[in-house]
Amino acid sequence: MGLLLSCCRPAAQGCQLVSAGQVREPDYSGLRSNVSQLGHILGETMAAAEGDAFLELIERIRVLSKGARDGSPADREALLSQLRQLDDEQLVPVARAFAQFLNLANIAEQQHMVSRTMAPLLSASRNLNKSLLELREEGVATQQIADTIAALKIELVLTAHPTEITRRTLIHKHGEIGECLSQLELAGLTEREQSRLHARLRELIAQIWHGDDFRRERPTPVDEAKWGFAVVEESLWRAVPEFMRRLDEALETHCGTGLPLDAAPVSFVSWMGGDRDGNPNVTAEVTREVMLLSRWQAVDLYQGDIERLLEELSMTRCNDALRELAAEAHEPYRAILRGLRDLLRRTQQHIEALLRGETPAPVDILVSEEQLWEPLLACYQSLVDCGMQLIARGSLLDVLRRVRCFGVHLVRHDIRQDSARHTQALSEITRSLGLGDYAEWDEDTRRAFLLRELGNRRPLTPRRWQPSADVQEVLDTCAVAAEQPTRALGAYVISMARQASDVLAVHLLLQEAGVEEAIPVAPLFETLDDLSRAREVVSTLLRDSWYSGQVAGRMMVMIGYSDSAKDAGVLAASWAQYRAQEELLEVCGQYGVELTLFHGRGGTIGRGGAPAQQALLSQPPGSLKNGLRVTEQGEMIRTKLGWSSLAVKTLALYTVAICRANLLTPPAPRDDWRQMMEALSADSCAAYRAVVREEPEFVPYFRQATPEQELAKLPLGSRPARRKAGGGIESLRAIPWIFAWSQNRLMLPAWLGAGAALANVVAQGKAALLQQMAQEWPFFATRLSMLEMVYAKADEGLSAYYDDVLVPAELQPIGAGLRKQLAMDIATVLTIQGAEVLLSEQTWTAETIRLRNIYTDPLNFLQAELLKRNRQRQSPELERAIMVTIAGIAAGMRNTG
Ligand code: PGA
Repeated sequence: MGLLLSCCRPAAQGCQLVSAGQVREPDYSGLRSNVSQLGHILGETMAAAEGDAFLELIERIRVLSKGARDGSPADREALLSQLRQLDDEQLVPVARAFAQFLNLANIAEQQHMVSRTMAPLLSASRNLNKSLLELREEGVATQQIADTIAALKIELVLTAHPTEITRRTLIHKHGEIGECLSQLELAGLTEREQSRLHARLRELIAQIWHGDDFRRERPTPVDEAKWGFAVVEESLWRAVPEFMRRLDEALETHCGTGLPLDAAPVSFVSWMGGDRDGNPNVTAEVTREVMLLSRWQAVDLYQGDIERLLEELSMTRCNDALRELAAEAHEPYRAILRGLRDLLRRTQQHIEALLRGETPAPVDILVSEEQLWEPLLACYQSLVDCGMQLIARGSLLDVLRRVRCFGVHLVRHDIRQDSARHTQALSEITRSLGLGDYAEWDEDTRRAFLLRELGNRRPLTPRRWQPSADVQEVLDTCAVAAEQPTRALGAYVISMARQASDVLAVHLLLQEAGVEEAIPVAPLFETLDDLSRAREVVSTLLRDSWYSGQVAGRMMVMIGYSDSAKDAGVLAASWAQYRAQEELLEVCGQYGVELTLFHGRGGTIGRGGAPAQQALLSQPPGSLKNGLRVTEQGEMIRTKLGWSSLAVKTLALYTVAICRANLLTPPAPRDDWRQMMEALSADSCAAYRAVVREEPEFVPYFRQATPEQELAKLPLGSRPARRKAGGGIESLRAIPWIFAWSQNRLMLPAWLGAGAALANVVAQGKAALLQQMAQEWPFFATRLSMLEMVYAKADEGLSAYYDDVLVPAELQPIGAGLRKQLAMDIATVLTIQGAEVLLSEQTWTAETIRLRNIYTDPLNFLQAELLKRNRQRQSPELERAIMVTIAGIAAGMRNTG
């Protein structure tokens, strides 16, 4: 596929990876040649499988697509007619050719980020060293840096959100391809080694071409959890100690003191099998099983580590403390390690019996991380005392660090449930007690009731009471939480939290189930109104003596990025999120409570996504003081954490951003900036809702112009696309809402409202103030740069094409109006930025979008055609082809929902 050679030309100028003043031209030649190499192999594979004529057809389509993108109407016409002429059996292979190419280009780009060529610019060590040096140059005392790093708390919450379109077996193959590319970068490979690696690439690409792109069935929540554990096993288990080595070294270099031995700067939490919000497949039984599997996986990984140490630590000299532990053993370290190995084996057998549903005899098993930590620490100290520091700080240190990061549970598990389900449970309880209907009570009555019951230790639920199945499920889940050691649990998150009673209700249900030690109960505020009232809700809670006694100086609040954006548009939502964080910090400060803000962000801009550094530095001052807790979802898990080399880089990025935010407090907004944001927020929300809520034909238009209905059929995750059946966009989850608009390339939710509000300000002659905000306030600068990014991915021509093919004439004015608005918005943002073209400072990003368009355009044209045919006459073949186009476009956009 020589055709692909053109795909990765170097950007005309430097890229955004280097800041001004340090311009160093990144070298894209390796990336270019890798993309072309993978493209060639894909071409050969397709020719071998489908024949030369097929490859010629693909090449024809590509050339026409390029011509059309370069502005030739004749090529566009010819492209469309070529695509329309495809026979039914050609649809899937043609779509796959383009989709697979985009996947391969993504792998090459991902590998480029961790390549040797880019190491001088992008490696984790470089990032850490450079940032620590900058902090010192900016006058931060070394002790302060060391303290900040020692107190670092990064909790990454892996969710099962259905946004990962690539199936697991493909992800694995993609990882292998990346690995081959990395190997090929090494100097000194023999010809034999090189040809072996090329053969392996050909083998992997052939496996991909001849395999299925999709799961046939939806994964179960247990499958999802296993996928999460595989990420730990394949990537994070290695990445965490590696990241800590690099951090330790950088700290030693710049601050003269390393990382404390028991530092645990990062840990992982999982929602897979625990997040039941709107997902009836996640039951109490599933959560119990997943938590056992998680322990099993941890034990299994530690066994591998201990086996390796057993091979290595055959030294005989030891200190007195170890001698005492190891008695007469000639090789004392091994003696200790053998004990650990036995403990792990027993534990694994015990868990396996529990998983089989048996009740194994109580034996001495691993339940606390100290059982691992103490003997391993004793080995470590003995080695140091006996002059074997080098050995102590080798593999053994890595294992110690894993113990602190992964504990005995591997990851902690959060539980999430919708507030309405707790209300329903309390409603049934109060009715059965003859107290009336909790659901009908006002907030004050609910709160008074809950507080009374919380202070009362007698059982709340009547004996022999039979709740409805839904309520039973809520109670069973609380019972599962009660069975778990506190360290196994992260938080109980309440989605759609609105009132203080929503939080107290969960405390009561947990108390009733017998939860002894307090686990954080975190309200998730996720609509504009709820974010605006977050302060009031939290201060009501903290005013109460039962509550403040219960939380003992710490609380967690979750900020919902996607649903608030779906509710009010991105600009208003982002300001509401910012304000809520500020207000919550203030109110918690007043009560002397340490607040952990938990950010529920998605990968796409419409769901609060932004590059890590930008996202964190644009948060309000003080918001990272107690660490970072943030969701990592779907394909973001793969692209940020899926390979250990990437994960090390991601952890370093987070570390650097948190240190900067905490040590060089970001500028607080000036009063006139705030007023401006208030005005922009009100205007943009009104403009957004005028379309999404008030335009009566909007929902029918959305249904026709995007593949929303077809998306629900994609077996991506265990969760349904809607919170409840039927309904307009209110019941549709944020993910498919955004996903649908990124397929037809209108990207509506990521920009609607913002440009109109900004234009009003410009029209009032206040552009200068906006420009000042953009220059001096990271929050505002990030908003504008995210808008630019979305505008660059949006494509009016494609959106219009979807309308032509799919939307009935009477609804077409809606699309035309939206596109007109988009064009005006782009012009407004360019005026504010003082730029002539979008992404003028991010030329590489602009370039990759432009080059990918050549491959995504045929997929978009095909998709529109397929949707039309399938809506007239459904067929499995058409549906399969639609799915391939969906996956291909998502690969081209590099994200989905
Ligand atoms: P949720 O998440 O629908 O699970 O709340 C939405 C998102 O992360 O975009």
